[in-house]
Amino acid sequence: MHLPPSAQPSHPAVRTSPAPAVDLPPAPKLTTEAIAALRAAGKVLLVQGAMGLHASDGLAGKVAAAPSGRFVPVGTISAVGKTVEGLVGEIRRARSEAPHGYVGVNLMAALNRDDFETLAKAALAEGISFLVQGAGISREVIRWCRDAQTPFVGIVSSGRLAATYERWGASFLVAEGSEAGGHIGDIDHPLAALVAEVRAATSLPVIAAGGIVGSEIGPLLRIGADGVQLATRFLACTDGDAHPNFKRMHLGKTEEDVVVITSTVKGMKARAIRNPFTEALAEGKAFPPKTKAWFYGREGYRGRRKSCIDCLARDLCICRESDFKESFCITDALLRAAVLGDVEEGLFYSGSSVTRIPERALEECTDAHGLVARLEAELGAWESVQ
Ligand SMILES: Cc1cc2nc3c(=O)[nH]c(=O)nc-3n(C[C@H](O)[C@H](O)[C@H](O)COP(=O)(O)O)c2cc1C
Repeated sequence: MHLPPSAQPSHPAVRTSPAPAVDLPPAPKLTTEAIAALRAAGKVLLVQGAMGLHASDGLAGKVAAAPSGRFVPVGTISAVGKTVEGLVGEIRRARSEAPHGYVGVNLMAALNRDDFETLAKAALAEGISFLVQGAGISREVIRWCRDAQTPFVGIVSSGRLAATYERWGASFLVAEGSEAGGHIGDIDHPLAALVAEVRAATSLPVIAAGGIVGSEIGPLLRIGADGVQLATRFLACTDGDAHPNFKRMHLGKTEEDVVVITSTVKGMKARAIRNPFTEALAEGKAFPPKTKAWFYGREGYRGRRKSCIDCLARDLCICRESDFKESFCITDALLRAAVLGDVEEGLFYSGSSVTRIPERALEECTDAHGLVARLEAELGAWESVQ
């Protein structure tokens, strides 16, 4: 069927018409006080970290609804690269799968300013358990969260930033070590030392993130974490929306398969799986933006139809700043990986824990509920020998 350009549908992953929010109770808020009460009851927060673009879609509600004796499972939706309708659809989907569970939204402050504000306000209006700010720092978003009576969460790589966020009114913090997947900055901040530093700098609840597998949860709780955030470990869950090739790309990997690249976003370092794309980047090849009509439809991303959709804030995108002669289009590379499963030209972000994922093939992987149960058993096994 040939459609006129204006009627060109977007990719199903964009989900342009969200299901109506029928009969959903108000989202439970993950406040400082709620976490204190859960901790007093002996519970541990298990947060599924957001993974853009599209990599963690479908998981937040399933994680938040997972039955667990020990964990309070928490799902996080990545807002990056989504249309407003797509984000609202993903929130409603997660909330209907886990009406009483904790579902938050992650938004990178490094985004185009208008997208950042529009998506943050759409998420807050929809009703979520918390909003977490990824790469970059915007103080304004804390005010928007306060106005919407929604907990704000900061991701921190130092005790100093933790103290600043506490002063600004954050409800809890994610201490993200350099073992994490995605953008990790330039600073060498291994997780255990970072958790100790952040714990000493703030009285807020601290969630440890970066390179964690089940057997490491207990030791992190012992040094003062109130919970853990895992992303890479959730990548290959059978009920996530990511392409099967994307899931396979993270299984059976060794140290030689993991590389640190220089991202388009401000030249930050980022960990990824080695493939022809990362090898070409290492040789200095540039990947200028291509049309995204296949994903967003002919109307483009929020009406932006050019190959470059201005996804990042001005002066943060090395590719655009170099007039597309250097670096790569991050939206193309991440969409190619998670949506198309393109193992040649996709960019597969990953945490250092990818080499310790016990499942070696897709057939050995479980759904999100099964993974939460596996992690609980691993925490129990560690505790039983202490
Ligand atoms: C594929 C992938 C995409 C990610 N995208 C984002 C993102 O958009 N925003 C963000 O704040 N963190 C992002 N992260 C970081 C995770 O949310 C999480 O904090 C971190 O990866 C935890 O470490 P782990 O993956 O080793 O468990 C991403 C991680 C991965 C693996």
